[in-house]
Amino acid sequence: MDALEIDRSGQEGAAVRLLGISGSLRRASFSTAILRDLQGMLPADVSMEIVLPRLPLYDEDEDDAGARETVQAFRDKIGAADGLVICTPEYNHGMPGVLKNAIDWASRPSGKSVLTDKPTLVISNSPAFTGGVRAQANVHQALMSLATFVMPGKQVVIAGVRDKIRDGSFIDKSNLSFALAEVERLVGYCRRVRALQGA
Ligand code: FNR
Repeated sequence: MDALEIDRSGQEGAAVRLLGISGSLRRASFSTAILRDLQGMLPADVSMEIVLPRLPLYDEDEDDAGARETVQAFRDKIGAADGLVICTPEYNHGMPGVLKNAIDWASRPSGKSVLTDKPTLVISNSPAFTGGVRAQANVHQALMSLATFVMPGKQVVIAGVRDKIRDGSFIDKSNLSFALAEVERLVGYCRRVRALQGA
């Protein structure tokens, strides 16, 4: 079995819808490229839409008056997804403002956030050897406040990403298979959560 061949026997189940959220708006973003590669490798019964959270800056006054259409659409996409895959770079030793802003919008209304209980895998990446690990910890911390179900266990941290992506595609097969295995573990959690909710 080569690095990208995955034994999926016994894992079949109801279709699962994932939402991939990139922490970068950059056109040639490595974070978005990683999500796209993973999207193309999912089993037939798993889909993943990818969004770039191009949202206005959070303003509680606007939220009170009813959130803008783009914000509501973002919340709805999270609400409709069985699970999330957040792929983020690191900016100044934390998550990019774009992603924090998106989490802040999705965190409201208070007590009714679409992020609460949502099975979520966080992937960080960086051209540096640290792989964005501080941004990843930062995302975990923010999601903890919302009781998001962040995947426990192995952390997907992709270091030296600039050398692993060519022409928008991941060429490091072992990193990719490691990330894919964690996405598949997330899918397993999504199915279990759905079964618990009786859906
Ligand atoms: C960075 N970068 C960066 N990298 C890192 O490992 N730790 C850091 O603290 C920072 N800080 C930082 C701040 C700002 C403002 C920028 C623009 C960049 C480098 C960053 O990881 C690199 O530009 C990535 O390629 C950005 O991610 P995308 O756009 O490729 O997904």
